[in-house]
Amino acid sequence: MTIDILTIFPEMFDSVLNASILGRARQAGLIEIEATDIRPFSASKHKNTDDYPFGGGAGMLMMAQPIADCMKAVCEKRGVPCLSNLEPHESAGVKRIYLSPRGVPLTQKLAQELSQEEHLILLCGHYEGVDQRVLDKYIDLEVSIGDYVLTGGELGAMVIADCVARLIPGVLGSEESPQDESFSDAGLLEYPQYTRPREFEGMTVPEVLLNGDHAKIAAWRREQAILATAQRRPDLLKTAGLTEKEKQALLRDRS
Ligand code: ADE
Repeated sequence: MTIDILTIFPEMFDSVLNASILGRARQAGLIEIEATDIRPFSASKHKNTDDYPFGGGAGMLMMAQPIADCMKAVCEKRGVPCLSNLEPHESAGVKRIYLSPRGVPLTQKLAQELSQEEHLILLCGHYEGVDQRVLDKYIDLEVSIGDYVLTGGELGAMVIADCVARLIPGVLGSEESPQDESFSDAGLLEYPQYTRPREFEGMTVPEVLLNGDHAKIAAWRREQAILATAQRRPDLLKTAGLTEKEKQALLRDRS
């Protein structure tokens, strides 16, 4: 998997891409992630990347030209065609994503779909947005990381790179398996976890986790996952596939 990030602040990515699991995955050659600076592609004398919006209004917009030329250069470097979405075409083996609060919400399901792609190009906007024409022509999908407005798409690109990378086989060690986690296939939030010591500031670890009875531990964890989901994200329960028995137990707990 290759992830290219188009940004006017490539330095923002230095620490995130080199640290922890992402850094290890890059070093191991499991994933290639590169941030490319849009600014040098500006055709203007002062390498401007923004301009006033036609029709007036607050703020500045990112111009189409530097972004389009940066996109073309990155595609050429990777040996993929930079296809225009204004004409019908087959998939080019690359998904071009613009980070925007107007986009489809990023979910674990979308992250799973994106992790199947060979190549992602993430475009980070700034100021009040981007000239619509470059989005119409070169962007395949707009993605939002939540219902709030950031100063730019960079944090969103980091979030996508992180949650997609960890789904690539080999990126997480087996001990860090993504199976049981919140928003995984089970559709439930994760159960609470404990490590040593057995007692911390007067609080003990639930007894069931200490007795080595794996069936009981699994049952307790499932029950705790259902309870946490019911308390924190009841909206997720509808699609979590609870058994009739579990639904009854939940009703009893709540009454
Ligand atoms: N850029 C600004 N706000 C954003 C958001 N919520 N998600 C993705 N990109 C953004």
